Amino acid sequence: MENTMTLTLKVWRQNGPAETGRFETYEVNEISPDMSFLEMFDVLNENLINDGEEPVEIASDCREGICGSCSLFINGQAHGPDRLVTTCQLHMRKFKDGDTIYIEPFRAKAFPVIKDLVVDRSAFDRIQHAGGYISVNTSGNTQDANSIPINKDDADSAFDAATCIGCGACVATCKNSSAMLFVGAKVSQYSLLPQGKTEASRRVVNMVNQMDLEGFGNCSNTGACEVECPKGISLDNIARMNRELLKASVKK
Ligand code: SF4
Ligand code: FES
Repeated sequence: MENTMTLTLKVWRQNGPAETGRFETYEVNEISPDMSFLEMFDVLNENLINDGEEPVEIASDCREGICGSCSLFINGQAHGPDRLVTTCQLHMRKFKDGDTIYIEPFRAKAFPVIKDLVVDRSAFDRIQHAGGYISVNTSGNTQDANSIPINKDDADSAFDAATCIGCGACVATCKNSSAMLFVGAKVSQYSLLPQGKTEASRRVVNMVNQMDLEGFGNCSNTGACEVECPKGISLDNIARMNRELLKASVKK
């Protein structure tokens, strides 16, 4: 077929968290440059099923860059070689005919492998549960959100922070497996808004404590997380989180 590619895939296979993993080699043919990376993966899995083999476990849901579940390490980069996109938004035109592509799960102690390329990222959920919310009485007396004036710069920065999709690329990319970009974004999206100020101290202390309990490493300012983040979350959010933490410790 014209303009299609034949690719060699080196795919990480691991039966479970306690098992030793290994790379398996597969070839896929007739891959269109217009396919997404996950569509290419669907071809691989259909081939495996047709051959009576077990398909490779991968996680995906929205396939439009929103849910953060399609987290793969592709040729040594979280979400692959493109910038500001998730794996589901990565197109095969970023590769060329005859390429060999290495595909691994996101690796971090706090993200144990469940199977093949699927990791357990529930540590992020527990960090969110520790404080990533505002307590609002929703019994019919809530004010319209627009009734509280908010300075445009703060609203924009809060919105930018809120675009974090919790994919974990920042952790997988960081040599220390630090989750500070994720937690910085989740703290910032509230700390910049009046609605988030009431619980600000408790929020940052509880979220950072939970982050440490989950076994994520410390930030050493390499900035790799910002480079690989599919949503362009800025390192400024880490600085803001550290300021919030300092404020909370002074208030004690
Ligand atoms: S900060 Fe970026 S890389 Fe980290 S979880 Fe959020 S969206 Fe993913
Ligand atoms: S499948 Fe939802 S972000 Fe990729």
